[in-house]
Amino acid sequence: MPTAAGETIIGFRDAAKVFPGRGKGGEVRAVDGVTLDVRAGEIFGVIGYSGAGKSTLVRLVNALERTTGGSVVVDGTDLTGLSEARLRPVRAGIGMIFQQFNLLSSRTVAGNVSYPLEVAGWSKDQRRERVRELLDFVGIADKADVYPSKLSGGQKQRVGIARALATTPRILLADEATSALDPETTQDVLALLQRVNRELGITVVVVTHEMDVVRSICDRVAVMEHGRVVELGDAYQVFSAPRQDVTRRFVSTALKDRPSPAVIERLRARHTGRIVTVGVDDVSGSSAQVTHVLRRHGVDGTIVYGGITEVAERPYGSLTLELVGDGTSVEEALAGLRAVTDVVDHGTASAPRDAGDAEERSAS
Ligand SMILES: Nc1ncnc2c1ncn2[C@@H]1O[C@H](COP(=O)(O)OP(=O)(O)OP(=O)(O)O)[C@@H](O)[C@H]1O
Ligand SMILES: [Mg+2]
Repeated sequence: MPTAAGETIIGFRDAAKVFPGRGKGGEVRAVDGVTLDVRAGEIFGVIGYSGAGKSTLVRLVNALERTTGGSVVVDGTDLTGLSEARLRPVRAGIGMIFQQFNLLSSRTVAGNVSYPLEVAGWSKDQRRERVRELLDFVGIADKADVYPSKLSGGQKQRVGIARALATTPRILLADEATSALDPETTQDVLALLQRVNRELGITVVVVTHEMDVVRSICDRVAVMEHGRVVELGDAYQVFSAPRQDVTRRFVSTALKDRPSPAVIERLRARHTGRIVTVGVDDVSGSSAQVTHVLRRHGVDGTIVYGGITEVAERPYGSLTLELVGDGTSVEEALAGLRAVTDVVDHGTASAPRDAGDAEERSAS
């Protein structure tokens, strides 16, 4: 019976993959005791730097790599020790797309999408019908008779997605599927993956080293480092309150909202008021709350730096303000702000304060 929405569709239990040593280097623990559940119907992100073990982890799901310890359960089937023959139906339920698209250059677009259907023994008429439907879905019906060499990267990945969906899998694995694409094309392909998830109900696992990918489409995320999952949870929570250094580094690559020390220096020189950075997210402070606090204390706040973006479709970022007010009102406004969100006080040119205090959440 297929896994119901919200239940575990991919379960890793202390899963490990150790590669034997190459040369004089010892063995490589590419995946080192990973326990996590991917839920049916979600878009799950696996993020980490090069060599973290992301690809190896997802390759355990369709048994392109076999575990050397622990287990991986896919749609109720424990893959541990399964024969190639018994793996076949499991693999049929899993589609995969790649960074380099892996299209057959000798076949047209339609020929590429048709290929897995031929392998699965579909008749010519059935294949023609299914290929048309798939190319329509991914938006390249007009390219059916074109060869891959004539396509842009984004179009190639659409073919890759159509091919991966041909035999109606329940799971789609996307390993760096947008890493070879420019930012705009990346967003188009991510939007398509979101449709695959929402309209077809397919569980999507995206492997990436790009924070933007996770930010745009993932419901939950696992952060990997040295073969281990070091942080796991709701994408918004993980990125709005990162606990691990590696996670913080990803957040700061996606959001250039926090001023660097050099920028802070310039802001203080340029403005006479108190320079303050306040966090904006929907867990602690909203920009409306910030405005409200400042007004209550009769303090003027001018935005001098910052940015607000979306993580998992919710607001996230920070604003750097110049605060100007009478007497103790700025101090009182600061206390009010600290009650609703995280605040970094950079001081003024004559009384500068160093960032990096405990209160600065994104410091590292
Ligand atoms: N077939 C293999 N034989 C030996 N070592 C391997 C093999 N495949 C991967 N590794 C090693 O396992 C570790 C994890 O590799 P993996 O490809 O899973 O990382 P990754 O997170 O996908 O990296 P990238 O972002 O560069 O794709 C690396 O140290 C890598 O060199
Ligand atoms: Mg990889």
